[in-house]
Parts: sequence; C-alpha cells; structure tokens
Amino acid sequence: MTTNPKIIGEGLAFDDVLLVPQRSSIRSRFSGEIDTSARVARGAPPVHIPIISANMDTVTDWRMATTISLLGGFGVIHRFMSMGEQATEVRKVKERMRVVEGHPPIITSTATIRDARHLLRQRERGYVIIHDGSSYDGSFIGIATPRDFEAGTPDTPLTAIMTPRDRIATVPAGTELDEAVKAMHQHRVEKMPVVGDDGRLVGVYTMKDFKYYHQYPHASLDSRGRLLVGAAIGVQEGDIERSLALVEAEVDVLVLDIAHGELDYTQEILHRLKVIERINTPIIAGNVATIDGAKYVRDCGADGVKVGVGPGYVCETRDVAGVGVPQITAIMNAAEAYKNDSDRIPIIGDGGIRKPGDVAKAIAAGADTIMVGSLFAGTDESPGEPVEQDGMLKKMVRGMASATAFEKRLALGSTTTNLEDYVPEGRTTFTPYKGKVSKVVKKLRGGLLSGMSYSNARTIAEMHERAQFIIVKNAVPEQRRPLQT
Ligand code: XMP
Repeated sequence: MTTNPKIIGEGLAFDDVLLVPQRSSIRSRFSGEIDTSARVARGAPPVHIPIISANMDTVTDWRMATTISLLGGFGVIHRFMSMGEQATEVRKVKERMRVVEGHPPIITSTATIRDARHLLRQRERGYVIIHDGSSYDGSFIGIATPRDFEAGTPDTPLTAIMTPRDRIATVPAGTELDEAVKAMHQHRVEKMPVVGDDGRLVGVYTMKDFKYYHQYPHASLDSRGRLLVGAAIGVQEGDIERSLALVEAEVDVLVLDIAHGELDYTQEILHRLKVIERINTPIIAGNVATIDGAKYVRDCGADGVKVGVGPGYVCETRDVAGVGVPQITAIMNAAEAYKNDSDRIPIIGDGGIRKPGDVAKAIAAGADTIMVGSLFAGTDESPGEPVEQDGMLKKMVRGMASATAFEKRLALGSTTTNLEDYVPEGRTTFTPYKGKVSKVVKKLRGGLLSGMSYSNARTIAEMHERAQFIIVKNAVPEQRRPLQT
C-alpha cells in the first residue's frame, strides 16, 4: 500500500467481506435462542428487529412506519410534506394501538349520529363516549358504537340510541389489561371503560387493541403501549417549528436528515433543539462515514448516529461528488470512534442493504440497526401505486437528492437553493413490485438470525464482539449491485 498521506487507507464494501463461520452452540436459528433486539437511539425504547425503514418519500409514510413498527422494527416518516401533514402522519401511527385509551373520543349529549360518525372518522375509533355538559370533566352518561348508529338516522340524537351509563360495565382504575379482557368476555362487550373512585372516566380498554398485541407480539411499543415512530427533520429555520410540531405529536425519535452530517448545521440545530428549545425527544444525526465524523456527531449531543455516505441504491454522491466510504468500513469507523464510550450512542448502518446477508454483515461491523430504503420501496406499504413496465409491475423509488425530489422540496418551500443551481446526487428509478413488506422483513431477519447463528452470537452485542470477516478479492463494486429480495 502507498505511504502517500493523501491516501488514508482502503475501504471495504458489503461484497468485499464474508462472515467467517465460528464454533457455535446455537442449536437452531429458529429456536428462539437468538435475541435480535436493539437500540435505535439513546433514550428510546428498544426494538425487537434491528430494521429501520428509511425517511425517503418513496419508502416511509405512516403506512410503512406503522407496519414496520408492528413487525418489531422502526420507521422514520420522511419530511417531504408540510409540517402539519408530517405531524398528522406521526399521530396516525401513535393512534393505531395502545394498552388503554387515555383520550377517548368524547362527544356532548346534544350531538347527533352524524356528528358522532364524523368524530369517529377523524379519530379512527369504534365508539364515542357521551357526556352531559358544556365541558367534559370525566363524567359520562353513555357510550355508542357504529352498531348503535344503525338504529337511527343521521339526525337522531345520540342519547336516543346510546347505552346509558347505568347499563355500562366498567372496571376500576388500576385494572390490568388481562383482567379487563376477562371482564369484556364476561359482559360480552368489546369496550371496557376504566373509572376512578369518583366515577369519572380515566380510560377505555378495547378488544381491538388487545387483539393487536396478540397478533403482533413483537411490536415496537412506547411506555403506553403505542407504536414507536420516528420523523425526519432538515436544517432550515422552519425545521425548528417542524420539530416542535412533531414533538407535540409525540414522535419518539427525530432524525436529522443531512447527507453530510459533519457540517456546522448539525451542531447548530442540535444546540437549538436540545439546549434552547429543551426538547427531550431523542435526536439521531448523520450521515457520517469516518471516525472523526462519528465523534463529531456524538460530541454535538446526538442520541444516535446514521452512518453511510453514498452506499444507497439510488445514491449518486459517489458519481457526482466523488465522495464516499465503502459501507462496511464506514460502520467499522463509527464503532471504532465509540469503542471506549460507556454509554455508546447507537449506530444505524444506513444504505446499501440489497440482500439479507448484508444485514448480518452491517451488524457484525458494529451497527446496532440498519436502515433500508430501496428494498422496501416496491412493497404495498410504500407510498405510490405500482405501474406496469415491460410486462412487470413496478414501483418508483427515488433519491431524496434527485431532481424530481428537489422540485418537490422547492414547491414546499423547504430549500433556499435555485433549480438552476441544483446538481442532483440521486436518481429516480423503478423497482419490482414485491407485495407485502412483511415478506421482505422476514427474509432480512431470517438472514440476520442465520448470520448470528454462524457467528455464535445470541445478541447484537455478542455479534459485535464475536463476528469476524474475511476479505474477498475482486468483489463487485458496491453501488450498482442489484436488489435481491
Ligand atoms: P438504500 O440502499 O436502502 O439506501 O436504498 C437508503 C439510503 O440512501 C440514502 N439516500 C441518498 N443518498 N443521494 C444520496 O447520495 C440521494 O438522493 C439519496 N436518497 C437517499 C439515504 O441515506 C437512505 O436512507
């Protein structure tokens, strides 16, 4: 190797390495011996599957974020929409399920069936609680569901068709979910209001929520049993307001979306949000690819780091700017940067995942989780509809630094650059339609379990510690490798 100081070393991409089989005591990767739970960001609850869907507008809106979180991963809602829309998307994910509904849909006794239907559409719930007064103080006089609505016309007052308070079964405050479910079975109802000693409503258990917990036992949940969700922010002045709106919507993690995370912007915006605005929500920052870059982001106060400059399927940074670090080396750089930290911030390996084996390699290199863009873009849950091309169904995927994505940012007023000056560093293409994202997640997770089993690793931490690579000579260049699930 040259000793010229301009050359700092050699880099390894996914195909440049293979995991070396190790003597393993794991009997089967499906035996439940392997625990893939991982940290997404300092201060955020852990997830069961270390897979994050990327904040790209052809990948993650509320649908993808909801599904990935139900499956046990984490989704980051993209920022190529107004701040109000993005906050609404966060709310939709948070509203999907909860252990107990602390803010049930409440309506006054003068309302009609039409009013109730309107409220239920807005809140996506299957019942309304009716109170009798100008303002709600927890006292209620009845409950009504869409089945009750069928007994009247849109103009019928709710009080005519509701189940009145004296016929509503309730459980006392402090009742656990399992007990509430028993009570629902016993009374043959699907909703169980929880009341305090003073008879006021403190929450509502529903059978629907309970069923979600059974159907998705690994769902990523916050302390109130609601799905976890992240949202991307940028570095414009308006992003402070956007961040506050997202925090108000109870987003779990903010993700600072900058292609080159070593810019002054990272420090400025983290200072604004954490010190001046006093936001407690964890903030992930990036992207970086070097040891210094990883240290910089950590020292700016980030709660997680996103690693990857140029490995993405629709990235053109390496072609346009000539900049990048092969992804295995980039992840190893971040791991090296934090090797002596007692409370190491989690590392996200962002970009370049084309096949299941890449997940195991990224984790082995030191990533806690991986972020997936293009592989998820062709699924039912990604935004947009499939189109027919050359006799095949396909869905669009585009780089967030592509020309078409830039036009969208211009229209939203979220950039100060002129169209004439803009040089894209991402492309737009079409990827085969793949059906449900759960199928892709299953393959990626299966590959990870297998890689962990070969490495004798029962946890992500053991994978970091024990996995070893061997370098493969003459591998295919990273950028144009095909997507393979
Ligand atoms: P994959 O390979 O999963 O990578 O599609 C997703 C990641 O790619 C990054 N990304 C871009 N990088 N120009 C780039 O250089 C772009 O236009 C672009 N769009 C997305 C991003 O980090 C994403 O998570």
